[in-house]
Amino acid sequence: MKTFTKSFTRQEPIPEPAIEAAVRVMRSGALHRYGADPSEVAALETEFAAQTGAAHALAVASGGYAMGCALRALGVKPGDPVLTNGWTLAPVPGAIAAVGARPVLVEVGEDLCIDLDDLAAKAGRARVLMLSHMRGHIADMERLMAICDAAGVTVIEDCAHTMGAAWNGTPSGRWGAVGCYSCQTYKHVNAGEGGLIVTDDADLAARMVLLSGSYMLYARNGTAPDEAVFARHKGAMPNVSGRMDELRAAILRPQLADLPAQARRWNDRYAALEQGLRNLPGLRVIDRPAPEAYVGSSIQLLTDDPAKVPAFLAACAKRGVEWKWFGHATAQGFTSAHHHWAYVEAQSLPRTDAILARLLDMRVPLTFDLDDCALITRIVAEEAGRHLR
Ligand SMILES: Cc1ncc(COP(=O)(O)O)c(C=O)c1O
Repeated sequence: MKTFTKSFTRQEPIPEPAIEAAVRVMRSGALHRYGADPSEVAALETEFAAQTGAAHALAVASGGYAMGCALRALGVKPGDPVLTNGWTLAPVPGAIAAVGARPVLVEVGEDLCIDLDDLAAKAGRARVLMLSHMRGHIADMERLMAICDAAGVTVIEDCAHTMGAAWNGTPSGRWGAVGCYSCQTYKHVNAGEGGLIVTDDADLAARMVLLSGSYMLYARNGTAPDEAVFARHKGAMPNVSGRMDELRAAILRPQLADLPAQARRWNDRYAALEQGLRNLPGLRVIDRPAPEAYVGSSIQLLTDDPAKVPAFLAACAKRGVEWKWFGHATAQGFTSAHHHWAYVEAQSLPRTDAILARLLDMRVPLTFDLDDCALITRIVAEEAGRHLR
């Protein structure tokens, strides 16, 4: 029986131009954000704003920090309710908890997106939605924005899994008031850690630049609003340090330029996996809607029968194929579910729970080639035939 031997967590090397840029920054000794002139961070902000079509961009310490910073800038206070997906990863409720706010969880549907009927029903309960495009699945953004606009709910987009993706031609992160991205090792660009924020709102931008800890260097942000805008917020924003450093920015700039090409490579692998995993016994792939331009850096399947999952997963794992399962009773690795977050008020999400019990997730590293994808699908097909029929 064939086994798969590659690692599901192995990244590609950092590209040579990024390594050279990083070495230049280290030789200069100027690693503090905006501390160099010209600044790698400021250039990254200018380039990322242009890439996403945003007026303003800000480079920060992590994706989680980006989300917390956006919540603070929107004036979310301790005890305030914040809507978010019932299925997401721990940094999302964590960012809400970091400002002392309370996650109000919204059901997710079989498309793995936030359930728009449940969102409409709960929209009156909060004035902010932290929308997680979890595992790269983008909801119907026209309808979502119509629901939120009608209810006076401001949308922050968590684009940790959708950097480079779009809905109906508008980049993910550009539908809501603020878009937040992660540059952590397992995301679409790899700085080890890091986050990016975009917005068109000059006041929000100024508040976030100040909040993230700019001392008197705030005007050096690559997309800085006018001094008059900063003047409205200086002194009122606490310094909650969470800057990106010049070294990470230097590593990221060449990677961002490569993102469209990398997205195509991810999608080649995703297409091979999707085709090979379609129509297997007991398993269903998630159909992607036509308006969604996704980056296939992970793939999800729904099983028919959750009771059969443990034996199937064990058989795949024995042959080197790693699935994450959201139906585990306890949190595992990077995977957790809302009922594991003891700091979040318990909430009834029967539809989400029924989906999580059936939901399998696989990372698709770019270190896999198309032959690897073929071997993975062969192993999964054989084990599905044995365990899920
Ligand atoms: C869905 C989701 N949102 C946000 C984040 C936050 O990113 P970071 O790890 O950079 O804080 C992550 C990271 O894993 C994530 O998976």
